[in-house]
Amino acid sequence: MKYALIGCGRISNNHVVAAQNNNLEIVAICDLVKDNMEDKVLKFKLPETVHQYTDYIEMLKTEKPELVSIATESGKHAQIALDCIEYGCNLIIEKPIALSIQDADAIIKKAEEKNVKVCACHQNRFNKSIQKIHEAVEMRRFGKMLYGTAHIRWARDYEYYARAKWRGTWEQDGGALMNQCIHDIDLLRWLMGDEIVEVVGMTDRLKHDYIEAEDLGIALIRFKNGSYGIVEGTTDIYPKNLEETLYLFGEKGTVKAGGEAVNIIEEWNFSDYLDDPQVIKKECSEIPPNVYGFGHTKLYADVIDAIRNDRKPFVDAEAGKRALELVLAIYKSAATGQSVKLPLEECSTMDFVGRF
Ligand SMILES: NC(=O)c1ccc[n+]([C@@H]2O[C@H](COP(=O)([O-])OP(=O)(O)OC[C@H]3O[C@@H](n4cnc5c(N)ncnc54)[C@H](O)[C@@H]3O)[C@@H](O)[C@H]2O)c1
Repeated sequence: MKYALIGCGRISNNHVVAAQNNNLEIVAICDLVKDNMEDKVLKFKLPETVHQYTDYIEMLKTEKPELVSIATESGKHAQIALDCIEYGCNLIIEKPIALSIQDADAIIKKAEEKNVKVCACHQNRFNKSIQKIHEAVEMRRFGKMLYGTAHIRWARDYEYYARAKWRGTWEQDGGALMNQCIHDIDLLRWLMGDEIVEVVGMTDRLKHDYIEAEDLGIALIRFKNGSYGIVEGTTDIYPKNLEETLYLFGEKGTVKAGGEAVNIIEEWNFSDYLDDPQVIKKECSEIPPNVYGFGHTKLYADVIDAIRNDRKPFVDAEAGKRALELVLAIYKSAATGQSVKLPLEECSTMDFVGRF
């Protein structure tokens, strides 16, 4: 399957590895900065058959890739995605899928019209720990869901933001919730039952006065199934990443996935005693080299299978929109001081320019 990558920055390494692990035919890479492409060529020993482009439209016209991944600044995802779909490409779009509900809807609509698959890159859904928890949810082992909590206690310093000026801006990124915490927010929403009635949020910029958006977000969520959610996410922790943790509490089950990025099962208790908690904790925990985890390779495998078998990807564009919607709802509640009802018809990170 002919594959191309747009955006050769920090996360792109995971995409090249995932493409190679899945034996995709990498026909092209694209970046506005030639040196960034050269870095990929050297690091991954890419052959000369991998052509380099600074203009993705030219790349799409010339190479006609079947699958493209978009790993540029978040604020550029939507336009690039719409252009790729126009050229008939299936897509893996880095998270967040877009920065407004309107753009996410446009991507979903156009992908349907052109009959292409779109996957939102929430790779943590493929963590062993999360797959096992999802299985328990599907088997209804929790009984009635009571509440769930997501805690993202990470650290990002001045150098991190200075390396890429788009980070922390409303136009290209959003703050801690939209960028760093959206994986855990996605997991909480998905595993608690997806449908949300209302959200109450507070956000602030406590430590990073050189970015536009928030570095701390707190939210309460009321789900349609009668359960509740709590989100607490920050990039303010001193001196380094502490944890990305997810708790799920049901009438008949308690689970905690922790570690630096929800990669370790720390609690596994169910009234049905269907399995041995010690065995599950051992078998379903893994320690990846960084917070990005091992998920990209599995996510790619799923998308390739989805294209070949004409089915939805496991993490489709709708899933990407739901994670985006929850973050935007928290932003809106924080800005207005009111609870926000879902679904959100229209909302964009640009609505919050000048907030702090
Ligand atoms: N899934 C994850 O765990 C994860 C982790 C980090 C970042 N991300 C997401 O990945 C995206 C990229 O983040 P990053 O940290 O790699 O950013 P980065 O700034 O390191 O890289 C972005 C790259 O895109 C290139 N680019 C910009 N416009 C382009 C265009 N029109 N055509 C081609 N290339 C273009 C830039 O030159 C740059 O090299 C963001 O959306 C971010 O939220 C996801």
